[in-house]
Amino acid sequence: MDSNKRPENMERITTAELAEAFIEEQVKAIREQVKDGKVLLALSGGVDSSVVAALLIKAIGRNLVSVHVNHGFLRKGEPEQVIEVFRNQLNANLIYVDAADRFLDKVAGVSDPEQKRHIIGEEFIKVFDEEAAKLEGIHFLAQGTIYPDILESEKGIKAHHNVGGLPEEMNMELVEPVKLLFKDEVRVVGKALGLPDNMVYRQPFPGPGLAVRCPGAITRDRLEAVRESDAILREEFAKNGLAGKVWQYFTVVPDFKSTGIKNGKRTFDWPCIIRAINTTDVMEVTVEHLSEELIDTLVTRITTEVEGINRVLIDYTPKPPATVEYE
Ligand code: XMP
Repeated sequence: MDSNKRPENMERITTAELAEAFIEEQVKAIREQVKDGKVLLALSGGVDSSVVAALLIKAIGRNLVSVHVNHGFLRKGEPEQVIEVFRNQLNANLIYVDAADRFLDKVAGVSDPEQKRHIIGEEFIKVFDEEAAKLEGIHFLAQGTIYPDILESEKGIKAHHNVGGLPEEMNMELVEPVKLLFKDEVRVVGKALGLPDNMVYRQPFPGPGLAVRCPGAITRDRLEAVRESDAILREEFAKNGLAGKVWQYFTVVPDFKSTGIKNGKRTFDWPCIIRAINTTDVMEVTVEHLSEELIDTLVTRITTEVEGINRVLIDYTPKPPATVEYE
């Protein structure tokens, strides 16, 4: 049987009972697979890797070594929050690696989307390999791969960093307990595992992070514009009761400039694109229509507070024909 194929008779996990049964089954499977071995986990702090971390902590406790890599493409305040929740509150065996400069140097000048994803994915694996080498005796690598990642990678739509790409010489066996689940099921499992709501209902975030929202060759200044505008968008969504209600929302700063006027002077700056969408299974998405008042606030705040932005655009395209992310 192809272990990357969801069995046709597999029931959709929609209730606490079904989640409990899944957890029990996975805890058993993880223990059988890893025995007394140590497992290294790429803990991004997103829903998928957080649920995998909680499952593994339940199954093997301190033998799970979680590594949080700050690749420089995380959202504002995110590395700090991961440390707070996992190290301070959940007492996880957590290693924090600040690799921002290393990743930014690697993708400098690279404009092809698939190449960017591959470089970031490869660098991730290198960082984990280095951490594993320092730790000694780690033979397993856990990943937060979910079913849409597998389906879309198979169709060649996108090369997700967390599917395949593991160099054979790395000599690590994969542990992917949620790889047959859809996103909504991962959340039900997370809730049943007792993870806090702000983690379980957190919007999804791609592995390569803000790198895919800074289309083309990434520069530090444009990346900062993405990070700052994203922080403003999240703040305004929270204020307006939309956080946790809208499935995913973010900003994109494309690599082209247009003319504008700021403080009576001509500017030549980037536009900032806002994308807010809803879905249940990520295969198809619909757009969230924003109120005129919220749009006005976002336009004012983003153009005045974010360096390098002189225009705000809204992307009202569903999936298909567009994908969620721009790259
Ligand atoms: P697309 O752009 O494929 O996005 O329509 C579907 C969902 O997947 C997220 N996404 C990723 N998640 N690693 C991930 O774990 C990735 O490389 C990746 N790329 C996209 C995206 O944010 C959306 O929720």
